[in-house]
Amino acid sequence: MKKEPLIENVIRQHAQMNEFFTGGFIQKGQTSSSQQNAAIIAEKSAKLQKIAEQVAKCKKCDLASTRTNPVSGEGNPDARIVFVGEAPGADEDAQGRPFVGRAGQLLDKIINAMGLKRSDVFICNILKSRPPGNRDPKPDEINACLPYLQSQLETIEPEIIVALGAHAAKTLLDTTNPIGQLRGQFHDYYTGLNHPPIKLMATYHPAYLLRSYSPENRRKVWEDMKKVLTELDLPIQ
Ligand code: URA
Repeated sequence: MKKEPLIENVIRQHAQMNEFFTGGFIQKGQTSSSQQNAAIIAEKSAKLQKIAEQVAKCKKCDLASTRTNPVSGEGNPDARIVFVGEAPGADEDAQGRPFVGRAGQLLDKIINAMGLKRSDVFICNILKSRPPGNRDPKPDEINACLPYLQSQLETIEPEIIVALGAHAAKTLLDTTNPIGQLRGQFHDYYTGLNHPPIKLMATYHPAYLLRSYSPENRRKVWEDMKKVLTELDLPIQ
């Protein structure tokens, strides 16, 4: 029998994340600017929690009836980098968390190789529900789900978006150009007319790397991530 989406779990997980990222920051005697930062992070966290609650209730496409759990996304609400994948797979659907299967383990390695931890960044997908059998997302599913991702990006306002794979890159850049052409250079992603564009780096999806684990493909992804680190003034290890 199909399990009901664990809305309570989503709400609890986001409340815990909220507390983790904001709870310890406000201490007696803090400067007003760090209190302001804490307030901004708390506000972003609350907005992300609201989006996750909307995702958990969403029935805008048929995937709502086949998924086990919604997978809104997770990580630092004030992240400098947001990684965007395609859609949850079987492991993500079972756990309600993004990138926790084999592709996720490789993404963790990439993040660690960048000198970062998973909790430093935010990780999410174009689709918030698993397509049955991991088939490609359909255009109507992408159209139904995209506003949630757009709201997440508007909320976090990262400095860099890393689009993992063709579906994420083509959707966010609204182009049909192949990933081989899109990767390796920064593009502009616009969250709204009154906001400056966010730099978007497209690269190969970790699942593609697992299928085609050639030194050449790994080198290309690492080249792309080095450009991200340089853009953020972070050290290349
Ligand atoms: N592949 C994706 O694109 N996203 C996930 O969350 C897991 C695998």
